[in-house]
Amino acid sequence: MEKTIDQICADALKEIETAKSKDSLNAVSLKYLSRKGIVTQFLRSISKLPPEERPKAGERANETKRLLEKAVEDAINSLDARSPAADSFIDVSLPGRSALPGSLHPITQITRQICDIFTRMGFDIAEGPEVESDYYNFEALNIPKYHPARDMQDTFYVSDNIVLRTHTSPIQVRVMEKRKPPLKVIAPGKVYRSDSDITHTPMFHQVEGLMVGENISFGNLKGILSNFVHLMFDEKTSLRFRPSFFPFTEPSAEVDILCVMCRGKGCRVCSHTGWLEVLGAGMVHPAVFENVGYDTSRITGFAFGMGVERITMLKYGIDDIRKFFENDFRFLRQF
Ligand code: PHE
Repeated sequence: MEKTIDQICADALKEIETAKSKDSLNAVSLKYLSRKGIVTQFLRSISKLPPEERPKAGERANETKRLLEKAVEDAINSLDARSPAADSFIDVSLPGRSALPGSLHPITQITRQICDIFTRMGFDIAEGPEVESDYYNFEALNIPKYHPARDMQDTFYVSDNIVLRTHTSPIQVRVMEKRKPPLKVIAPGKVYRSDSDITHTPMFHQVEGLMVGENISFGNLKGILSNFVHLMFDEKTSLRFRPSFFPFTEPSAEVDILCVMCRGKGCRVCSHTGWLEVLGAGMVHPAVFENVGYDTSRITGFAFGMGVERITMLKYGIDDIRKFFENDFRFLRQF
């Protein structure tokens, strides 16, 4: 004899009770309640019963169907309630998990310190575009096309006449085109060169300085830079000027400071010379003044450019420039 609806119901309930996972509960549901399921089949077979038995059997079968649907649903819900997500209820007695406060990148901090020192000496801050024309980056700075001096600063070309600036010096030209002397300007910014090793990254930061007027001499350059180095490092950090070459300054110099690690005794950082190169400088070349329409018989001036990464590395004793751009929290957190 076929099973009665009550037997079917009892079997199904037992299976629901022993099911340990959602999958097995879904399987029970499929077995009994789907279109071809046992309860559904039973409902269909009612039409074959004698007419007087049909209403009662129909009612029992429908009741059973609702009961089993509910039992499956309850079982699934109680599985959810036992899942790990539900275990992690909010415990208000636990100490809070605080958000990490943001802070300024060491390069930003040092750039600001440099700018602060110069603004205290009366310099204004200027900026210029990072995507620069060949004219401002090279030509106006007395670096003609095909001149070997271009080798010093190989860059990224956007097109024949547009480059990513290789230094902040084009800002000198842009400022002088707009303003009449006397002027004292400092210009921080990103610069780009196709260079990459432990002391070079394709993008780095510079701060440019420019002071122009009547009777501005190399002595002024030396005074301003000494003052800067003493404030940035300390009073005991002396500096020296070495003759050098830049197409846009004449005479030109490279400026070294006494090694901040060994104080001149000679160590690995200063390659046993006792000195560290920190910036390029010189008296503005008359050709540059001519390009901006300044009167070269009356006006003189000096310019300098320093690498912010270099200064930051010396200040904090960092030996690999790439650390600045790896975004490693353990490194950044120290500043
Ligand atoms: N622009 C030069 C460089 O990037 C530095 C410099 C600036 C030298 C101003 C002299 C005067 O190497």
